[in-house]
Amino acid sequence: MSRQASIPLPGGRAVKRLGYGAMQLAGPGVFGPPRDHEAALAVLRAAVEAGVNHIDTSDFYGPHVTNRLIREALAPYPDDLLIVTKIGALRGDDASWLPAFEPDELARAIDDNLTKLGLETLDVVNLRLMFNARRPAEGSLTAPLKAVADLQRQGLVRHIGLSNVTPTQFEEARGIAKIVCVQNQYNLAHRDDDAFIDTLAAEGVAYVPFFPLGGVSPLQSAALSDVAARLKASPMQVALALLLQRSPNILLFPDTSSVVHLYENLAAASLTLPDDAVAELDVIGR
Ligand SMILES: NC(=O)c1ccc[n+]([C@@H]2O[C@H](COP(=O)([O-])OP(=O)(O)OC[C@H]3O[C@@H](n4cnc5c(N)ncnc54)[C@H](OP(=O)(O)O)[C@@H]3O)[C@@H](O)[C@H]2O)c1
Repeated sequence: MSRQASIPLPGGRAVKRLGYGAMQLAGPGVFGPPRDHEAALAVLRAAVEAGVNHIDTSDFYGPHVTNRLIREALAPYPDDLLIVTKIGALRGDDASWLPAFEPDELARAIDDNLTKLGLETLDVVNLRLMFNARRPAEGSLTAPLKAVADLQRQGLVRHIGLSNVTPTQFEEARGIAKIVCVQNQYNLAHRDDDAFIDTLAAEGVAYVPFFPLGGVSPLQSAALSDVAARLKASPMQVALALLLQRSPNILLFPDTSSVVHLYENLAAASLTLPDDAVAELDVIGR
């Protein structure tokens, strides 16, 4: 599969490999309204106008803020737009991230996403595990996943994915529901999931890394800057191109609140890294 190609989902849907993550459109700390409402709408519209057909969000961004922005900017939605959301957490009044895995909490989260996005069915819902909020940690997902599978049977959810999971939890999940994607932290400096990515590729499951650019601590490295200078690209473009080349089941959704950065990131789809550059970059994460 080429780096620009689409990746198919069950049901015949296909998405381009470079999408857009909307989390940081909410206010500082992913809490409250954006600093500039009109600028947030402009980035979302620019993404879709530039051909993006995969947007990642959650109703716990803001909370409610990101979904409302997506609806205001983009509804009625283009037919080919895939909106991926996630459930499993709630925000405290102090902006904290709290686990929310009881069946009634999950049902409410689905309802919140549907209402705020203005949809009758959610395309893809990732169950975001919170045994440890910062990294995958073991613990059974059977009870919450069965609750999400029930909501799928009711027609509220088309496809189910997982986020912040271990390979063991992925195996446990497959006995309960069809899993179409896994969303874990991965980027050129954080490569714990290398073996997991290969397993998922062999199974035809998409791997959709969050923090592809380093998230709150944007990637910085002398080797990255050197490679970028040689290729006349930006470091962020090189970081994205590396992930696209890493495995054909990887889909990306870099997040930005800037139209300039959006276009820069999308251009990474046509950047090819030579083998020696890949070898230099691979050292960073080891
Ligand atoms: N499942 C999970 O647990 C989880 C956790 C976190 C995030 N996510 C999802 O992952 C998506 C991406 O994650 P993320 O937003 O935290 O991290 P990210 O995409 O790795 O990085 C976003 C940061 O990089 C900056 N940036 C983007 N493009 C740039 C460019 N070309 N040059 C310089 N800086 C650039 C952005 O700043 P500017 O706004 O200034 O461009 C922003 O601060 C989110 O939108 C969210 O949907 C999921």
